[in-house]
Amino acid sequence: MRVIVTGASSGIGRAVCEHLLAAGHQVVGVSRRGSPLASTTGTFHPWALDLADLPHLPARLEPLAAVHPALEALVCCAGAGRFGGLEQFNHAQIRQLVDLNFTGQAFLVRSLLPALKRAGHATLVFVGSEAGRRGRRRGAIYCATKFALRGFAEALREELASSGIRVCLVNPGMVRTPFYDGAGFAPRPGAEHALQPTEVAQVVTQVITARSGIVFDEVYLTPLTHAVDFTPSRPRPQEVDPCLDAKPGEAV
Ligand SMILES: NC(=O)c1ccc[n+]([C@@H]2O[C@H](COP(=O)([O-])OP(=O)(O)OC[C@H]3O[C@@H](n4cnc5c(N)ncnc54)[C@H](OP(=O)(O)O)[C@@H]3O)[C@@H](O)[C@H]2O)c1
Repeated sequence: MRVIVTGASSGIGRAVCEHLLAAGHQVVGVSRRGSPLASTTGTFHPWALDLADLPHLPARLEPLAAVHPALEALVCCAGAGRFGGLEQFNHAQIRQLVDLNFTGQAFLVRSLLPALKRAGHATLVFVGSEAGRRGRRRGAIYCATKFALRGFAEALREELASSGIRVCLVNPGMVRTPFYDGAGFAPRPGAEHALQPTEVAQVVTQVITARSGIVFDEVYLTPLTHAVDFTPSRPRPQEVDPCLDAKPGEAV
């Protein structure tokens, strides 16, 4: 199976690549870093691309679509989280998060749809979030992007079924990944407080490899609790200070 996975350099996307490679599939891993991944079974091709650079994205997607004229699956994992009250975001930060978490995904899917249709049967997987089902304070922009992704997936599911493409939205709760670096909070240590990226990857792999007549519309998987610890803030460049008014141990 030929699969493109975005967010391949870290966290959930990287774990998805590793699972697919172990099963012998051909994987193209998209991220800004274009990090290589070793595999003794499947083949891995790193592909460097900034999905939030919307002005240049259509032109930069053309070679990706041209090199992979037929594609059995596309897994959209790239994304970021930024948290804080709305007034803590400047306009550029709002745009940046929406561009990466939603608009860049729409550009990517539009560009690769012909390749997915050519394969006859194909699977399109979005990694959403439980934040796409319920809005939470300090998450106005992040939740909005995940709600948008959910509507996008639902509409595409109807639009593409007659083309043999099934669309699945996988919505994890907290997963222990670098997503929380610089966020100012992280899931509390312990297996009950966070999923492992490989556990989400197992679900994604099952969705992609299920027989073609089965569609997993949406899958929610969450850790048993939602407890977080607040961490010394190490903001990434241009990142807001998150969670300024939250209390230790409080779910976010
Ligand atoms: N971790 C959680 O608790 C959690 C929970 C629910 C949903 N999610 C969702 O899961 C997805 C993956 O998150 P994660 O936890 O795996 O985070 P992560 O470890 O920080 O990985 C994010 C990935 O996205 C890529 N990326 C970021 N900005 C990009 C850009 N502008 N262009 C292209 N690629 C970009 C990163 O690669 P480069 O830096 O190399 O570009 C990296 O591979 C996100 O959509 C997130 O919203 C995460």
